[in-house]
Amino acid sequence: MNYDIKTTELAPTGKQRIDWANRFMPVLDSIRARFENERPLEGLRIAACLHVTTETANLMKTLKAGGAEAVVCASNPLSTQDDVAASLVVDEKIGVFAIDGVDTDTYYKHIDAALDMQPAITMDDGADLVSRLHSEETNPSLIEQVVAGTEETTTGVIRLRSMAAEGVLRYPIIAVNDADTKHFFDNRYGTGQSTLDGIIRATNLLIAGTTVVVAGYGWCGRGVASRARGLGANVIVTEVNPLRALEAVMDGFRVMPMLEAVQEADLIVTLTGDIHVLRKEHFEVMKDGTIIANSGHFDVEIDIPMLGKLSVDKGSARPYVDVYTLADGRKLYLIGEGRLVNLAAAEGHPASVMDMSFANQALSVEYIAKNRDSFENRVYDVPKSIDEAVAQLKLQAFGIEIDTLTAEQEEYLNSWEMGT
Ligand code: NAI
Repeated sequence: MNYDIKTTELAPTGKQRIDWANRFMPVLDSIRARFENERPLEGLRIAACLHVTTETANLMKTLKAGGAEAVVCASNPLSTQDDVAASLVVDEKIGVFAIDGVDTDTYYKHIDAALDMQPAITMDDGADLVSRLHSEETNPSLIEQVVAGTEETTTGVIRLRSMAAEGVLRYPIIAVNDADTKHFFDNRYGTGQSTLDGIIRATNLLIAGTTVVVAGYGWCGRGVASRARGLGANVIVTEVNPLRALEAVMDGFRVMPMLEAVQEADLIVTLTGDIHVLRKEHFEVMKDGTIIANSGHFDVEIDIPMLGKLSVDKGSARPYVDVYTLADGRKLYLIGEGRLVNLAAAEGHPASVMDMSFANQALSVEYIAKNRDSFENRVYDVPKSIDEAVAQLKLQAFGIEIDTLTAEQEEYLNSWEMGT
């Protein structure tokens, strides 16, 4: 078994933490039990490029329980939990290529190492495996072996849809992000809580009474804005989409252009999936002491090279916090090098929400295995039946029952003739 991890010595801590996460992942746990019996993934080679966290470890265990040969590499250089990587290698005999804090070169070497196993299925969080397989540098025979892939996040799905639209996508993808039981919950409640968790762990900031600017009022932004308000912040939202901006207004937030918002901000968080949301003109008018973080997928939302250019000094203020001193003496604090702050400075999403996201991943892989010959090279939604099954199982795990339609109600809802 090939692997490249920091050390195997951390395996006991990793195992303890993976087991703890599993307590909050009852849906995935029930899928794992079924997979153990039915072995629907027997002999399938799966390469996953995900944040190497306790929740991912439970997904990898599930794929293995289903009979797959699975390996995992990191989907972000700063998100790997080295103890989890150790336990996957030592306790589960799963190949891991991930070390926290690697440079870009090693990051891509790890992706290539995962692809060396010649996967039939790729599982991405940000389309790294797909991009690598489509690049000219990669052995062209590798992509021939791939049956299909899955994609975990908004930014990845957007990229894959543009590849499909241009006719260059060479194998089918299931957009796990777009399942309702994924983005309604993971992006909103998961990112909402864990982004603030990362910021608080990194800074020990009291959120109450601060002015927090949230850039982007999508699924993630809604979550962060509502959680920040819950902690007592005065929240300002910035948007480029009039509908989303209007929604933020009616949800009770102030909405204004970023150039105005930054002048009031104590803390700014970007969650747009866009580039240079914070740039030169914004750095120039930020208050002394402003804290900046990003929780969107790539580290491009804040123009960090420009921040560097405007600064006369850069240092470390505390772990995960860099301080940039501008020519006029103002200090700006950047958390987690502008990478996903919830994963860089905290543990990522809580397990309970990843339970649903990764249940969708596991069931989508099973769906691919069962229907492997029926796909075209495009981006597919997760089948509605999977989405509904995940919601049903999660409710069951919470011990919550809901009503079912009576025969009369079914007839009424399906009929246009019954007007009264
Ligand atoms: P979304 O598409 O629902 O929302 C993005 C919003 O940003 C949209 O409303 C868009 O109009 C707005 N926007 C775009 N450019 C903007 C700009 N220049 N200024 C202000 N607003 C702008 O996407 P979602 O699901 O909220 O995801 C956002 C990002 O977070 C993506 O990169 C996604 O991959 C990532 N993500 C991060 C997670 C984490 O663990 N931190 C978890 C899930 C997603």
